[in-house]
Amino acid sequence: MEETLQLGKSLGSSLEAGDIILLFGDLGAGKTCFTQGICHGLELDKDFYIRSPTFTLINEYSGRLPIYHIDLYRLDSLEEIYSLGLEEIIYNQGVTIIEWAEKLRSSQNPDKLLLNIQDRIEINIKVISDSQREFTFNTFLPAPRSFPDFTLL
Ligand SMILES: Nc1ncnc2c1ncn2[C@@H]1O[C@H](COP(=O)(O)OP(=O)(O)O)[C@@H](O)[C@H]1O
Ligand SMILES: [Mg+2]
Repeated sequence: MEETLQLGKSLGSSLEAGDIILLFGDLGAGKTCFTQGICHGLELDKDFYIRSPTFTLINEYSGRLPIYHIDLYRLDSLEEIYSLGLEEIIYNQGVTIIEWAEKLRSSQNPDKLLLNIQDRIEINIKVISDSQREFTFNTFLPAPRSFPDFTLL
């Protein structure tokens, strides 16, 4: 858990306006915990406690940049996902973090994401054991950027 927070924090400090972070991984993998770390890295008050926006659907926090935290867990239909009005959020100048990004993959075309999301940072968290997680980090960005080296953390 400490490691997950730390990893999130170092990613958070390197984020820029307009970044979209897609989090993949099973229930309990650590997506919300990682989001908490990102928020700390974005200078949100350390004592601010992040909960999964499971019922509220979208939580908004203000760090060094506006932060939008979304959890798609309870959304099953495309209509529900579209009704969130995510386009307005993801194309503005904040940082958007989406848990259960699996739900953005179209079933017809797995290479394409809903809402036509192109530029993004994908993080996959895999549960290895109760006390171990594996993070996979992939960026899909128009220009090279420097990020913390996850393998060294
Ligand atoms: N690096 C880690 N190693 C072991 N356990 C972790 C690690 N990171 C987080 N955890 C634990 O995994 C759980 C993750 O919960 P949460 O972040 O709510 O998951 P999710 O949002 O993916 O459903 C927490 O109980 C946390 O203590
Ligand atoms: Mg969660």
